[in-house]
Amino acid sequence: MTDTKFTKKIACIGAGYVGGPTMAIIANKCPDYKVSVLDINKKRIDAWNSDKLPIFELGLKERVMKSRGKNLFYSTDLDKEIDAADIIFVAVNTPTKTFGEGAGRAADLQFIEKTARQIREVARSHKIVVEKSTIPVRAAETLETILHSGSNSVHFDVLSNPEFLAEGTAVRDMEDPDRVLIGSRNTPGGLAAREELVRIYRHWVPPERILTANLWSSELSKLVSNAFLAQRVSSINSIAALCESTEAEVSEVAHAVGMDSRIGAKFLNAGVGFGGSCFRKDILNLVYLCEHYKLDPVARYWEQVVAINDYQMERFVKRVLRSMFDTLVDKKIAVFGFAFKPDTSDTRDAPAIYICRRLLEERAKLAITDPHAIENARKDLEGIEGNFHFEEDPYRAVQGAHAVALLTEWERFAQLDYQKIYDSMEKPAFIFDGRNLLNHQKLHEMGFNVYPLGKPALHHF
Ligand code: NAD
Ligand code: UGA
Repeated sequence: MTDTKFTKKIACIGAGYVGGPTMAIIANKCPDYKVSVLDINKKRIDAWNSDKLPIFELGLKERVMKSRGKNLFYSTDLDKEIDAADIIFVAVNTPTKTFGEGAGRAADLQFIEKTARQIREVARSHKIVVEKSTIPVRAAETLETILHSGSNSVHFDVLSNPEFLAEGTAVRDMEDPDRVLIGSRNTPGGLAAREELVRIYRHWVPPERILTANLWSSELSKLVSNAFLAQRVSSINSIAALCESTEAEVSEVAHAVGMDSRIGAKFLNAGVGFGGSCFRKDILNLVYLCEHYKLDPVARYWEQVVAINDYQMERFVKRVLRSMFDTLVDKKIAVFGFAFKPDTSDTRDAPAIYICRRLLEERAKLAITDPHAIENARKDLEGIEGNFHFEEDPYRAVQGAHAVALLTEWERFAQLDYQKIYDSMEKPAFIFDGRNLLNHQKLHEMGFNVYPLGKPALHHF
C-alpha cells in the first residue's frame, strides 16, 4: 500500500512497554491506518525491526509480525513521521522527578515537554495529539500552551487516552479492554478529535466500553485507577502482617472478604509488595498533586499505600533474618524470581531489588534465578557490593543453599521438583514463599522449614 491509500496516519512517540504493544494492536485491528512507532532510542527501534523484540509480552511477537512492514513501521525519523501523521500518540516515559522541586514525588515531565516542542516545530498541518503517557491532572493544559505558542499557526487538539494495560497481559488487555477512556475539550474541535479516536477503537471495542469524559477527569482517572489497585495490595499486605501474628491465614481472609460482591476477589493476593514502573510513581504523583492543592490529609492518606509497601518488603527481609537464627552472614540464599511479576522481563521497581540489596547488606550470598529477567536484574544490581551471581537453572541456584526466597510467582517455580531441591540444600533448609505459590504442607513434609506469607510458619523446631 502506498501512503495515500491509508485512511489516516498515526504516529506514536515512544516505543516502550506502552507504545510498542498498543500500536501493534491498533495496526492489527485497523489495517486501513498507517501506524508509525517512533523513538529516539535507536537500539530499541532496531530491536522492534528485528526478530528479538525489545520487550517480552505474551502473544506480542505474532501481533507485530502480522502487521510489520504492511501498516506498522518503526522509525527514528521523528520529524518526518510527525509531520505526516493525522493523529499523534505521546507514549514517552514520565518517571518520578529525581531532582529539584518535587524530587521523589512529582512526575518528571521533561520528555512530554520535549515531545510537544518537537511536534510544534515540525507540524505543518492540523494534528490530534493524544496523551497516552500517565501524567498529572491538567497536564493537557501545558501541552496545549506549548503546542500553540511561537510562530506556528497550526491548530492542535489535545485528547487524553490513558492506558490501562498491565504488563504480561498487555495484548489481552488491549484486545479486550474493560474500558477505553477518552477525555476531550467540550469544543467543536475537541469533540471532533474525540470522534476520530473513538472511530479507531470502534474497529474492535464494543461501543459501551468506550467512555468519554472531560480532559481532567480522564487524566485523573488514570492516577486514581492505579492508586486504588495499589491500595488493595497494600490493604491485604497489611492484613498479612496481622495474620502472621495471630495464626489467621491471609488467603482465607482474602477469600472470605473478596466474596462480598461489593468488594470483589481480584487484586487481593498478599505478597512481598507491589513493584512495576507505575504504582509507586503514580501514587507519589497523586500525593504531590494533593499537596500542591493544599489537601494535606488526602496526601497523607495515599502516602500510606506506599509506606505499607516499603514496610512489607522490609518485613519479608526481617522474617528471613529472624527465622535463620538472626544471622545471614555467608549463608547462601537462592532467590527465585526477580521480575516485578510473572510473564514479564520487566524489573522496574521490583521488590526483588530492595530485598536483594537488604539481604546483601546482611552479608548473605545470593544465587538469583528468573526465567526472563536475569538480563535486567544484572543491570539493577550493577555496582552493588556483596556476593551474588545469576543462574539460569534453578536447580543450580539451590546447590548448597541454606534458603530459597521466592519473590515472583512464575509458574515454572511451582513445577520444580522440590524433593530434588531439598536434597541439594544445606540443612536445616528454609523456604520463604513471598507469593504463596507453593504447596506448603507438602514442602514441610519433605523436611523444609516453610515460611509462607501471611500464614503461620511450618517448621521442625
Ligand atoms: P518506556 O520507558 O518503556 O518507554 C518510553 C519510551 O519513550 C522510551 O523508549 C524512550 O526512549 C522514549 N522517549 C522518551 N523521550 C522521547 C522523545 N522525546 N522522543 C521520542 N521518544 C522518546 O515507558 P512505558 O513503560 O512505555 O511507559 C510510558 C508511559 O505510559 C508512562 O507515562 C507510564 O506511566 C505509562 N503507562 C505504562 C504502563 C506500563 O505497563 N509500563 C501502563 C500504562 C501506562
Ligand atoms: C498496573 C495496572 O494493573 C495497570 O492497569 C496499569 O495500566 C499499569 O500498572 C500502569 O499504569 O503501568 P502492572 O504494573 O503491569 O499494571 O502490573 P499489575 O498486575 O497491576 O501488578 C503490579 C504489582 O502488584 C506487581 O508487583 C504484582 O505482583 C503486585 N500485586 C498485584 C500483588 O502483590 N497482589 C495482587 O493481588 C495483585
